[in-house]
Amino acid sequence: MVPSKLPDVGTTIFTVMSRLATERQAINLGQGFPDFNPDTRLIALVDEAMKAGHNQYPFMPGIASLRQAIADKTEALYGHAYDPDTEITVTSGATQALMTTMLACVHAGDEVVVIEPSYDSYVPAIRLAGGTPVHVPLRVPQADDPYYRVDWDRVRAAINARTRLLVVNFPHNPTGTIMRAADLDALERIVAETGVILVADEVYEHIVFDGLPHLSVATRPALAARAIVISSFGKTFHTTGWKMGYCCAPAALTVELRKVHQFLVFTVSSPMQVALAEYLRDPLPYTGLPAFYQAKRDRLFAGLQKTRFRPLPSPGTFFMLADYSAISDAPEAEFSKWLTIEHGVTVIPLAAFYKHPDAPSSNRQLVRFCFAKQDATLDAALERLQKV
Ligand SMILES: Cc1ncc(COP(=O)(O)O)c(C=O)c1O
Repeated sequence: MVPSKLPDVGTTIFTVMSRLATERQAINLGQGFPDFNPDTRLIALVDEAMKAGHNQYPFMPGIASLRQAIADKTEALYGHAYDPDTEITVTSGATQALMTTMLACVHAGDEVVVIEPSYDSYVPAIRLAGGTPVHVPLRVPQADDPYYRVDWDRVRAAINARTRLLVVNFPHNPTGTIMRAADLDALERIVAETGVILVADEVYEHIVFDGLPHLSVATRPALAARAIVISSFGKTFHTTGWKMGYCCAPAALTVELRKVHQFLVFTVSSPMQVALAEYLRDPLPYTGLPAFYQAKRDRLFAGLQKTRFRPLPSPGTFFMLADYSAISDAPEAEFSKWLTIEHGVTVIPLAAFYKHPDAPSSNRQLVRFCFAKQDATLDAALERLQKV
């Protein structure tokens, strides 16, 4: 009918696995969303906002009180004062902020460096903008170091005169890797040397464990000056279905982002914005999130240790990787389907986050579990996994 703009995009493994999970009535620890409700107070605030008449188009970049609340939170946590009028835009989830960023910044022929494994929306967004994604792999865990790490020399080597953007996502989906001070130091050197603009996907900013802080790129003035920092209320307040997020960027970048934003969506849900502005007055719902999710992480980790899976440490996000090499030598997608069909637990193959999911180098016998689930859901899944 029309020549495809995304010829490589078919039905993703996420859709395949979710469909299979429904068909087989499996416990779905695949997709990244909570199976519990948000705070009833937040729901009541939306209800109140609707009844109070906040049902028409709000101001294009987001209502003033919400942008102010985001500015206050960001300054309190990361020390960077974004101007809510010229530097903060409320978006329909992080996904729209990412697409807006690519469409606004990437010109035909530009390159965008993406660290893989990577969240699945970056590459199609880059392609739709006419850009070319350039993949740099994370260093895989070693015998003496169980964490995925960024090899900043390889990132630096991938940047050239055609590079427009560098996408960094920390805490990282799917590996859980977080930024440490040395990573930000390296990033500062790269930005100083190359002038590259950063797209910092920080949707899991409030899900960092073991007492460690989230090191936002906004904590470093030299990085904040060249970064579009993206976050999501869906991850923070257990409302992934509301599709509410935002991006913070220097005024000169925000002008360009808003040009695209106004024609992509114009603006986003008014009652949700009013409710979130009010709800953000209380920091507890997000400052309490690490402890809330750490208990779930520890529950899943301890449970998996009693199975033939070998869980990897998860310093952030609500995901955990686990090695299944003691169970099977099947490729990851095949193993994931088998686990759903034979044992009723759905996971996502890590290979799905790579450019070449079928390549042997992308198949290291690892699957991703999501632990944003009720304890009863996790326990029921673990009971099944013990039988594998
Ligand atoms: C790394 C990452 N970025 C962005 C998103 C999308 O966020 P939103 O639901 O706010 O569009 C997700 C959702 O899973 C994610 O994991």
